[in-house]
Amino acid sequence: MAALELDLFLCRTDNFGVLIHDPASGMTASIDAPEEQPILEALERRGWTLTHILTTHHHGDHVAANEALKARFGATIIGPSGEATKIPGLDRSVRHDERFDFAGHPVEVIETPGHTAGHICFHFPEDKLLFAADTLFALGCGRLFEGSPETMWQSLNRLMALPDDTTVYFGHEYTLSNARFAVTVDPDNAELKARAAEIEETRCDGGFTAPTTIGLEKRTNPFLRAADPAIRAHLGLQNASDAAVFAEIRKRKDNF
Ligand SMILES: [Fe+2]
Repeated sequence: MAALELDLFLCRTDNFGVLIHDPASGMTASIDAPEEQPILEALERRGWTLTHILTTHHHGDHVAANEALKARFGATIIGPSGEATKIPGLDRSVRHDERFDFAGHPVEVIETPGHTAGHICFHFPEDKLLFAADTLFALGCGRLFEGSPETMWQSLNRLMALPDDTTVYFGHEYTLSNARFAVTVDPDNAELKARAAEIEETRCDGGFTAPTTIGLEKRTNPFLRAADPAIRAHLGLQNASDAAVFAEIRKRKDNF
């Protein structure tokens, strides 16, 4: 099994486009399809032909180019069974824990309801890759449009259970705003402070903050750190449940 090649680029204003390419077979998948033109340009630049779209959830900024790309390439669209009727051009719906194969690379479906009710993440265990879309961001998590804090907390725990050295690609370049918020919740976390300073520099230079890793997020992302004693003390929630601490952090970010 040859290593997958990845290409990361921006779509719309702050959506990440990601292409994954298996050099042995020539198969190429787009993780979501936020906008046709940048995806076409990335394919052209790399000399790749699109064969698949892996859809994480039904929001318009993730499925906008499904039908156009399917018409152009005949790409197969795989997406969440919980949102099957809302995904344009869907060919195959997949459920939690279901496994399928992309060019000989095993893919495991992780349902992570909360941002939307049927949101899924794609985990490539042998490649140590996770495509988390709008469930987990660098130093952030998705807004709770279709789920309770308890539901989202359970979803994030599913991602936290993955190996620390899993590389994580996510749906939006929101990291600068996330970093500025994170230090208000977890002000004494030295690794977070250093990371936040680095992110200010990266964004100032126009660089991307993706990808991240599960381990780095567990150490610095306040949305994964509801059990941390320093954060609980800072919020005055020493005796609350982890889900309640998570809910408070999400509420503060919504008003940040
Ligand atoms: Fe979304």
